[in-house]
Amino acid sequence: MGRNITIGMKTLEKNIINLSGQAGKNWLDKLPNILHYLSQMWGVTDIKPVSNMTWNYVAKAIKDKDIPVVIKISCQNDTSKAEAQALTYLKGSIIELIDYNSECNALLLKQAVPGISLRSLYPQQAEQAMLYYTNVVNNLCSNGNQISPPIFPSINKWLISLDKIDASKLPDELLHTAVTLKNNLLNQPKKQYVLHGDLHMDNVISDKDGWIAIDPKGIIGEREFEVACFDFIHKSEFNKTNIPNLFETRAIFLANQLGLELARLKQWVFIRLILGACWMIEDNGSPQLFLEQANKIFPNKHNI
Ligand SMILES: Nc1ncnc2c1ncn2[C@@H]1O[C@H](COP(=O)(O)OP(=O)(O)O)[C@@H](O)[C@H]1O
Ligand SMILES: [Mg+2]
Repeated sequence: MGRNITIGMKTLEKNIINLSGQAGKNWLDKLPNILHYLSQMWGVTDIKPVSNMTWNYVAKAIKDKDIPVVIKISCQNDTSKAEAQALTYLKGSIIELIDYNSECNALLLKQAVPGISLRSLYPQQAEQAMLYYTNVVNNLCSNGNQISPPIFPSINKWLISLDKIDASKLPDELLHTAVTLKNNLLNQPKKQYVLHGDLHMDNVISDKDGWIAIDPKGIIGEREFEVACFDFIHKSEFNKTNIPNLFETRAIFLANQLGLELARLKQWVFIRLILGACWMIEDNGSPQLFLEQANKIFPNKHNI
């Protein structure tokens, strides 16, 4: 592999090999050729991989000599196709999709410039970051996207992981609480929207006209489920003693700003943390970070 393609790829390589084994290795080997083919077809040069790749190959580049773009290549056809569909559906409130190549599982996106993560404001300017975040949520839920087109799955499809996971892999109380809360919430549904689905702070970046969302999954559910993906507690705050209070203050702030039901928001936060742990187990990774957060934010599982 050339130097351009190897920078920042360590986490990507580990994740892809854990997830897909030999097929993942084969894909990693083919990447330079895929990239060469796409760069010719799309007329892009100056390809510079981003430093924070996790599950996809992502690089900044220049199209037609002066248009800043991003190339995103996935190992899996379904995730790439779902992202293209979500970007198309949410057009105008999300980063612009310039082209999609299904053969290579590749997206050509407009590059947000300067493209700094909203996380960089956090936790020092927590309130400001939350206000920017609420604007992004409101933008995504405007444009009449409350209507549910059948191409997107419902959150129920994701939540099945909580029912299917090998229960011996997770602490009983955590899994049991998540499943009970999830069933209660699904039995009393609220108004449904087409959601971004993965709206944490690294998927909100700065563009010249403000903050914009990238990397949507496209899933149908309530807005409390969307906002439950917000990174309420930053890594640097993990050792604080008042985490539940800090969480409560931030959850109240977001719920008030967005007109969400606080109790449902908090319950979805817990459920999504345990869902994240299940997905890590499914993908042969470690659920530890998710479980640690769940325990620190919710020390009392009977009162979520
Ligand atoms: N359109 C874009 N403009 C600027 N930076 C981007 C763009 N798309 C992705 N990035 C950068 O690349 C990183 C990974 O891209 P992302 O689409 O979130 O991939 P993944 O699905 O693997 O999380 C982002 O966190 C961001 O830093
Ligand atoms: Mg992302």
